[in-house]
Formats: sequence, C-alpha cells, structure tokens
Amino acid sequence: MKQYKNNDFRLKDVNKEVTLQGWINKKRNLGGLLFIDLRDRSGIIQALIRPEQTCYKIAETLKNEYVVSFTGIIKERENKNPNMDTGEIELEVTEIEILNTAKELPFEISDTTTALEDTRLKYRYLDLRRNTLKENLMTRHKIMAATREFLDGQDFIEVETPILCKSTPEGARDYLVPSRVNKGRFYALPQSPQLFKQLLMVGGMERYYQIAKCFRDEDLRADRQPEFTQIDLEMSFVDQNDVMDLAERLIAHVFKKIKGIEITLPLLKMEYEEAMESYGSDKPDMRFDMKIQDLTSIFKNTSFELFQTVIKNGGIINAIVAKNATDQYSRKKIEELTEFVKTYKATGLACIKYINQELQGSIIKNLSEEEQEHIKQTLKLENNDLVLIIANQKNIVKNSLGALRVKLGHELHLIDPNDYKLLWVTNFPVFEYSEEENRYVACHHPFTAPHDEDIERLKNEPENCKAKAYDIVINGYEAGGGSIRIHNSKTQEKMFEALGFTQEEARKKFGFFIDAFGYGTPPHGGLAFGLDRLTMLLSKTENIREVIAFPKTASASDLMSEAPNTVDESQLKELGIELRK
Ligand code: AMO
Repeated sequence: MKQYKNNDFRLKDVNKEVTLQGWINKKRNLGGLLFIDLRDRSGIIQALIRPEQTCYKIAETLKNEYVVSFTGIIKERENKNPNMDTGEIELEVTEIEILNTAKELPFEISDTTTALEDTRLKYRYLDLRRNTLKENLMTRHKIMAATREFLDGQDFIEVETPILCKSTPEGARDYLVPSRVNKGRFYALPQSPQLFKQLLMVGGMERYYQIAKCFRDEDLRADRQPEFTQIDLEMSFVDQNDVMDLAERLIAHVFKKIKGIEITLPLLKMEYEEAMESYGSDKPDMRFDMKIQDLTSIFKNTSFELFQTVIKNGGIINAIVAKNATDQYSRKKIEELTEFVKTYKATGLACIKYINQELQGSIIKNLSEEEQEHIKQTLKLENNDLVLIIANQKNIVKNSLGALRVKLGHELHLIDPNDYKLLWVTNFPVFEYSEEENRYVACHHPFTAPHDEDIERLKNEPENCKAKAYDIVINGYEAGGGSIRIHNSKTQEKMFEALGFTQEEARKKFGFFIDAFGYGTPPHGGLAFGLDRLTMLLSKTENIREVIAFPKTASASDLMSEAPNTVDESQLKELGIELRK
C-alpha cells in the first residue's frame, strides 16, 4: 500500500529513505541531471536522478503521466522553490519501478490548459488530474463532511429516499424511466425528495437530512445541471424562524470550516417585494449598491410622449445610477447595453450623463427644467454620474434593470471578488401567474404554507397571498430555498382549489400524500441547499461543471460515456416501447 503523500515532506525529513508513488508531471534534463516532478493527489515533489545511478537508464525512458514508484533519500535542495510546498527538498532517486505507461495525451495536464471544454469533458478522467478540478472536488467533499458533522450534532438523521418514484411537485419536466414489469408505466426521477421528506415527518423522524441527487429536465444555464445535488433537510415542530436559524448556522459552520470565514448571524432578511423593487431580482447581489430607483412620479404630467404613453398604460419609469462612470461608457458601449436590456424584453434604454452640473443625453431636450431638477435631486446626482432609465411594464423594467445592475457591477469592478454577502429573501408570493398555462401556479410548490391571514384569500385574491417561504442568497445566487409546509387538510384542499386542481386531479397526482396527512401530521418545514452552487461559491467559479466530477454539457449529454445513447431494439421491445419515426 502507498505509505506516503508527496506533500508530507519538508526540511525536517532530510536523509529519510522513502518510496513514493505517483504520476510523472514533468521531466527536464539539465546537463545530464534528470529532474522529474512527481505528482500525487497531495501535490508535487521534485525527484532528482543522477547519471551515475543504475536507474538512470529507466528514468530516461519515462514520459509524462507514466505511473511510477520512486525509492530514494530526501535531500535539501540547492535551488529552493518558494512557490512549492515541498520546494526546499527533493527526492534523490535510487530505484525506479514503472507501474504503468501512458499513451500520448489529448491535452497537457496543467492549470493553465488551453484545451477546449469539450475535449476536457471527453477525457474527464485526465481533466480531473488538474489542480483546479481536484481542489474543487476537495472543497465539495469538505462541504459534505462539515454538513454531516453539523447536522449530526443537531440531532438530525440521514435517511435515503427512492430514485425511482412518482412525479414530485417542483414543477420542472420529469426524467422518466419505463417499467419493464409494468409495461406502459413509468417511474419519474425525483426533482427533489420533497414528498418523501414530508412523509418522513409523518413517520415521526422529526429531524431528517440527506445529501440527495435531484433530476430536472429543464433548460440548462451556467448554474444549472439536469442532475444535481441538494443538502436537503426537514424538521418537525418548528416555525419559519427555527428553520432559518438552523440553516444559517449550518452555512456559517460550512464557511468557517472550509474558508475560515466568520459569517455574522443572524443574516440580513429582505422581503421578496423589496428585493424586486430595489434590485430587480429575488436573488440580489448585495456586494455592491446601485439600487433601482423609481422616477415615475416625476413624469406624471410630462409632455415627453414616450414616458406619457408608458404611464398611461400602467407602466413605470425606473433608473439606476453608475457613480462616476460617464467616461467609461461611450455611445458604442451604451448601444451594447441597450442590446443587452432588449434580451430582457425592454424596448429601449435612455442614458443621461451628469457632467459639470448639466444633464446630457438625447432625451434631455424632451424634459422640462423642473423634471430635470427632480431627476438630479431624486437620484442625488454627482459629477460624472451615469443614469440609465427604462420605461415599460413593471416586470420588464425590474428584470432588465436588475440584470443591467449586475452587468455594470462586474464591468465597473464594484465587486470585491473575495467578498461574500449572504441574505434571506422572505415572504415570497404563494402564486405566480403562468402566461403559458393561463392560470396561477405555485411559486414554490403546492405544499408551501401561506401566511395564516392569507388562507381565506387563496381563492379570491391569489395575487395578494404571501407564503412562509424563504430563499438563502449568496452573492446573487439562489443557494437554497425552503418553506413551512401545510399540515392541515383543509388548508391543503383550499390550496389545490386555488391552483385549479379538481379533487380527482389532486388525488391522482398526490393521493398517497394527501391520505398520509390524515394520520396525525406534525407541523413541519425545511429547506434544501444546492450543493453544487455552494461549492461553486466557495470555489470561486461561475461554471457549475467545474465542481462536478462528471457533469453534463448544455445539451444534457455526457461527452465521455456518450450518454444518452440509443439502445438495442430488444431492450425497447422488453419495455413495450416503440420509437416514433
Ligand atoms: P428548490 O427547487 O428551490 O427547492 O431547490 C433547492 C436548491 O437547489 C438548487 N437547484 C439547482 N442546482 C443546480 N442545478 C439545478 N437544476 C438546480 N435546481 C435547483 C438551488 C436551489 O436553491 N424541495 C424544495 C426544497 C424545500 O422546499 O425544502 C426544492 O427542491 O440552489
């Protein structure tokens, strides 16, 4: 068995005889002396092979990524390398055993690789040999270990729930698995363990957690994978504050363990409405300011036709201010920003520059002196401030300015890359209107409890109902979310009714679940963190694939194993499936 790690050795170990195993990372010949960087999971140690050694002949044949066993003596180095943990010592090799050779590599194993991501994904096992990926997987492992340690200490038990199951209520598209035994029937892979964890509460488990695989067939983004992992938990006999308190202590524990960062508790809490009003997002990035400000009232009686029409149609006029940024935004760059907000359905972007006490920009000629004065005062403008205005329907204005705010935050370097800003967003609406389905759908899921005072309003005033739901937001990412659940059959019935489910439909979808709730269900609630997103945040990467050992591409395929793939006709036949041409 391998006895040592490369990174174990320091000056104190000089003159020790050791055998080290690993991969050839790099080989150099300096005037006959062979220097080899030997790599294992712990790091790199320099090996020196002198021409007079009998193993020199073997050493000459070694190539990158050969797997070897080196025996030798630890020596102090002549030329020390302060950038390496083991930079003060080297292994003077006396014996070499080649444990395996390696083919020519499709790309160099280096942190600064220029290989395309597709190539790296095809040869993921080689990509994993690079430091960055290794470090990210270590961080992921440490988060899981710290989570288990913390939750175990809080009396939680880890329970596994099924992967082959019935559709769960998160609202994305399901991955389906055909049943061979019950032809024509399908399992759904869980979008989360939501129903099971609630049933565990009915089952009296009181405090459950699981590091759980979830599957959602949805459009992928930089922070979404079709198959991802949650740190999922549920608690009985709690209210919203209890769950939030526990969850933020868990996060603080993880940050302390992994990064040595002390998170100040309790975390900031922001109402959903405030987040949307001021940041145009339910996951505001609080690492910089630049709030969205409302200018609608300034233009109530405006003669500027464009603003007039928007207000007449019930729209709003909002702005963000980039401080001292006028010289960084040329006409061309403003055009780029305009194109950017158009992807969020804004029809245009008005730009005003405040230079030497004067407002400048193409819309100024349409604005009265008074309106201009009000803009200056409301926005507290200072010299060289750049004002970006969008007039449209509320949701378009908020979404597009929210996205623009984040873009400017990055472009203007307003974000300290080492900073972490965490907060809760609370009081989400119970429902959101789905244009696609032409009806109200659950914002979170149909088992989320509304505020007590809203229960009676579920049916007639769905737009005004607030939920006992909360998201934890870190640096502009939704890192986790949860809610207090409905545990009372009457309220659940009202909820289904408000969602437009008939009794039969509700029974068909969730009958077993509704039944269970009749047998003494404790009040309960919970939350799930996205483990992949947490790892991204703690590893400082913006690409979710960089924190998953074997991720999928944007088209949900695995380039290494070539999944998904076709199957034999006989397999389809066995499942009673015929493919449509
Ligand atoms: P929700 O759907 O908000 O809640 O998911 C919880 C957290 O999981 C992460 N997440 C994802 N990460 C990567 N790829 C995805 N496709 C993806 N989708 C979600 C996010 C998110 O905050 N059952 C409820 C939780 C509960 O109510 O207890 C649920 O799944 O970080």
